Amino acid sequence: MAIIKDQLIEHIENKLPDSLKTHIYRSCEVGRKLCGIHSVDTEKVEIALLGHDLYRAYSDNEMLNVAEEKEIEISYVEKASPLLLHGVLASITMQEQYKVSDKQIIESIKYHTSGMEEMDEVFMTVFLADKLDPKKIEKNSQLEPINQTAQYSLSDATLMYLNMKISSIIDSGHLVHPDSLDARNSLLLKTRI
Ligand SMILES: [Fe+2]
Ligand SMILES: [Fe+2]
Repeated sequence: MAIIKDQLIEHIENKLPDSLKTHIYRSCEVGRKLCGIHSVDTEKVEIALLGHDLYRAYSDNEMLNVAEEKEIEISYVEKASPLLLHGVLASITMQEQYKVSDKQIIESIKYHTSGMEEMDEVFMTVFLADKLDPKKIEKNSQLEPINQTAQYSLSDATLMYLNMKISSIIDSGHLVHPDSLDARNSLLLKTRI
């Protein structure tokens, strides 16, 4: 696992722009803290966070081209918002280039933008650590209560985030990814029990 982390750091240092590098490292820091609080596997969370945004700096066209090259099925929502593909592309590179086969790591990367049905603690920690980068909280005050909630409940904080995000996507007139709705609905059912 230590070798994979070193390889990913080398990839990040050599290929990604500074703004993305610092976001990834801040997310890792948030992820490590959440792992400590909630007793989540830190190694898996760190590897997923180091790999989650490998394609985040690609343009829409570049993402669509790589997706076509890799014969990924592109949904109508992803066609309209190609940025949604960056997690899928990263999850493939993690498997093909870095030989990561752990399902929790791969799914945490693949669905880190939308969320997914049946999110476990590793997934929610990665998801929240990405969204609760302190720089993002500085820019969006709605994230602060989610950050506070994340200190005691990963599922409550993830549900809060999805509710906020889905509402803002609807308000701005954009398409909601069906995986986000599945994520929100399944969490809502679980947290109500
Ligand atoms: Fe991302
Ligand atoms: Fe990110």
